[in-house]
Amino acid sequence: MVKIKSLELQKQAAAKRAAELIPDQVIVGLGTGTTASYFVQALSERIIAEKLHIRAVATSVRTAELARTFGIEVLNIADVTRVNVTVDGADEVDMMLNGIKGGGAALYFEKVVAEMSDQNIWIIDESKIHPHLGSFPLPVEVLQVGSRQVFDYLTMLRLQPKFRVQSDGTKILTDSGNYIIDVQVGVDVDLATLAQTLKLRTGVVDHGLFLNICDQLIIGGDDVRMIERGRS
Ligand code: 5RP
Repeated sequence: MVKIKSLELQKQAAAKRAAELIPDQVIVGLGTGTTASYFVQALSERIIAEKLHIRAVATSVRTAELARTFGIEVLNIADVTRVNVTVDGADEVDMMLNGIKGGGAALYFEKVVAEMSDQNIWIIDESKIHPHLGSFPLPVEVLQVGSRQVFDYLTMLRLQPKFRVQSDGTKILTDSGNYIIDVQVGVDVDLATLAQTLKLRTGVVDHGLFLNICDQLIIGGDDVRMIERGRS
């Protein structure tokens, strides 16, 4: 119980620090999840207090709704060619700042926005750091048509696939109307090869491996730590 509260406080601390780093007059990518939601709130408080001119794109319908609730102007992704900085959470991060994302089923929008961003900042609590990725199931977003065939392919690859379902047993749908299949990644797996293998399969929209995307990692806690990619 104490641990859960502590992790929430870590998420809040990381989100607050990230909000302090955002300059005026920029377009910000808003991630999805609990940590990203804390960032949306912290950013909104700065925008109001300092009268900043900051606009945003969101990585999910729910983040867009939350941001608008907090008074942040949210632009359509299709109308934006460049995002200055994106702040997002992650499910698991290794020492190279590679990560698994998509626990909130927003991985496709998250990757679209991350790839159009000049800078990507991830905000996490300490429990998300692991020497190797693979503790958290890797989400694979798949089109509904052909999803059975993708599932069989993932089984053949020994990735122990599972369709992600809601409490009533029905398959969850992403904001794009796709299914999520969660797979198990072994610690000895070559991540770049796996990423390419998944991406090339017909029916796969994208996967939650985010390699060489995070520029700066902020880890919450009493002493908030910041790590830049390529530096220890
Ligand atoms: C959503 C994500 C989130 O960033 C990830 O699941 C972390 O969520 P939280 O901050 O709630 O722990 O990838 O698709």
